[in-house]
Amino acid sequence: MPTHPPEPFRIKMVEPIKLIPREQRHSALIGAGYNLFRMNAEDIFIDLLTDSGTGAMSQEQWSALMLGDESYAGSRSFNRLARTMEEIFGFKYFIPTHQGRAAENILCAILLKEGQSIPSNTHFDTTDANIRARKGRPVNLVVDSAYDPTDKSPFKGNMDLVKLENFISQTGAAKIPFGMLTITNNAGGGQPVSLNNIKSVSAIYRKHNIPFFIDACRYAENSYFIKLREPGYLDISTREIAREIFALADGATMSAKKDGNVNIGGFLAMNDGDLFLRAGNELILREGFLTYGGLAGRDLDAIAVGLKESLEEEYLSYRLAQTEYLANKLNEIGIPIMNPPGGHAVYIDAKAFLPHIPQHQYPAQALSIELYLEGGIRSVEIGSVMFAYPDPETKDMIYPSLELVRLAIPRRVYTQSHLDFVVETLTKIATRKDNIHGLKIIEAPELLRHFTAWFKPLES
Ligand SMILES: Cc1ncc(COP(=O)(O)O)c(C=O)c1O
Repeated sequence: MPTHPPEPFRIKMVEPIKLIPREQRHSALIGAGYNLFRMNAEDIFIDLLTDSGTGAMSQEQWSALMLGDESYAGSRSFNRLARTMEEIFGFKYFIPTHQGRAAENILCAILLKEGQSIPSNTHFDTTDANIRARKGRPVNLVVDSAYDPTDKSPFKGNMDLVKLENFISQTGAAKIPFGMLTITNNAGGGQPVSLNNIKSVSAIYRKHNIPFFIDACRYAENSYFIKLREPGYLDISTREIAREIFALADGATMSAKKDGNVNIGGFLAMNDGDLFLRAGNELILREGFLTYGGLAGRDLDAIAVGLKESLEEEYLSYRLAQTEYLANKLNEIGIPIMNPPGGHAVYIDAKAFLPHIPQHQYPAQALSIELYLEGGIRSVEIGSVMFAYPDPETKDMIYPSLELVRLAIPRRVYTQSHLDFVVETLTKIATRKDNIHGLKIIEAPELLRHFTAWFKPLES
């Protein structure tokens, strides 16, 4: 029997949630065009759509909000965040942004030109789309084990170094304005990247003079995985590991809505002074002044505290164990998932669970709809709705290797009984899984279609 760790906190404020009747859930789904992003949160019982901006802030963060200095320029809040940034990341410069995609947009605006390529282990949706929006090419070079949900390797987020070397020599470094690495690898099951791999990626990018930017959304979870799984790091603090990681990079983008444990915020950090000037001008044009980005002073204070708290090892050990608890329970009842589990989420392998639904009928979307219908649980599809794109030349659809349903666990929000309810719901769905049908897309935009597409269920 998997055990659930006692939460290292107690609950001081509660937010009611309720499971509305099945007929109402069905009508709500129809109204939302079978797109869970279009649903009203009040119609959701357990919301595992994302761990982004959905965490519970600590009493220290709420207190920090009250210290927010709302001066337009040079606020105390900015200076407090700058001190935390220096302690954890150590980059020479940073600009606050309202969230991760704003940092990605600025980076692409100042560095990426049409026809150029950006390699990474796997770009997440907004990074991928920001590159495509500027007519660049996002290239995913993760190790092959990432595509095998049954492979139990400890660092399935690693970049494949041979693929990276080959890609650079075939493309030419001049056509790669910067290279990335996402820690942990959200699109590939939330899998961590080893420090050894980060060192090698950094060495390869540096050898070719390609600036190296880390997508740092879940840097604390990744650092703790390194501590637990990589030989030689057990006695090194997670904070020191994080320092070591970022010393290998030229900059980072981050959505602080993840391991900053805030409801809004992000940043773009770098060591290059010229880049900082250009990024700053772009920030002022679109987001806000250099010392607040698109945020209020109080948001900066909450991030400053949250970034430090997310590195606390007692918290991280609970966080990873909670995810593992859900994963172990699903393994026990035979639901195919991405193993080993990542830090922030459990990913169900919808291709294996619903083998009768072909990729063009979106098996992971179909399963996420069933999770809502059966138990009012909101999850997210990470498969062909999110990542299938037409080939630029042939226009044939290129489908991703994985069809996943991500059960993202918001930080410090749900308890063991909520997770047990998720397991019970999946147990029920498993008994009638052969009767689940796929869907078709009725209407969708070209980029980031999963957010707003309209679907129709296919009948047998
Ligand atoms: C790895 C990764 N990068 C970038 C982003 C974008 O961050 P945001 O939603 O704050 O724009 C996300 C959000 O889910 C993510 O998981």
